Amino acid sequence: MFKGVLFDLDGVITDTAEYHYQAWKKLGEEIGISIDRSFNEQLKGVSREDSLSLMLRYGNKENDFTAEELAELAQRKNDYYLEMIQAITPKDVYPGILELLADLKTAKIKIALASASKNGPFLLQKMNLTSYFDAIADPEKIAHGKPAPDIFLLAAKEVGLTTKECLGIEDARAGIQAIVASGAQPVGVGQKKDLGENIPIVSDTTELTLAYLKEVWREHE
Ligand code: G6P
Ligand code: MG
Repeated sequence: MFKGVLFDLDGVITDTAEYHYQAWKKLGEEIGISIDRSFNEQLKGVSREDSLSLMLRYGNKENDFTAEELAELAQRKNDYYLEMIQAITPKDVYPGILELLADLKTAKIKIALASASKNGPFLLQKMNLTSYFDAIADPEKIAHGKPAPDIFLLAAKEVGLTTKECLGIEDARAGIQAIVASGAQPVGVGQKKDLGENIPIVSDTTELTLAYLKEVWREHE
């Protein structure tokens, strides 16, 4: 049996992936770059700084800003995002997630957060979920963001496990790649066209039950 579950946050635990998109879109409009949902798939799971670089490259503006201006743009996006997430409450936790966290706790399976977001601890608090997590991997401590495995390796380590003993749950292509590279077993939330054909995927978080995760593990063993 697996001994730990490494959770992504945005788009897995709650709908903040949408807020990230809205905040990037707003910033993009201010600097003359128009992004859509299809392009946004590339930003999911990717750090704030790397997302900004991707967006600027997409708009052919990668050489238009000084380092200082880049920092201001990243800050501005985060300010928009922070404004949007202030109103988040426990009601915003995706269906099925609270039950899953409770069942994992009862089964003494470790729970860790493996999100690239520096706003992760704040969001867990807003949703009253902090006490379920045995560890929150700090994205400031890793050298490489998703799709590199670093954040999943750190999350497993922080709960005293190896990634081989863990499942990782992700809604982003970069995140799935990071899980696979880490050696953990991936579970995707979303659609095969975005996440890949050859991994277990649920289209909805209500399907993320402990029984389902056990089934995935049995097939992986
Ligand atoms: C997650 C989200 C990304 C976001 C990143 C950094 O991985 O999926 O969309 O860019 O976190 O988030 P932050 O809150 O630190 O800007
Ligand atoms: Mg995500």
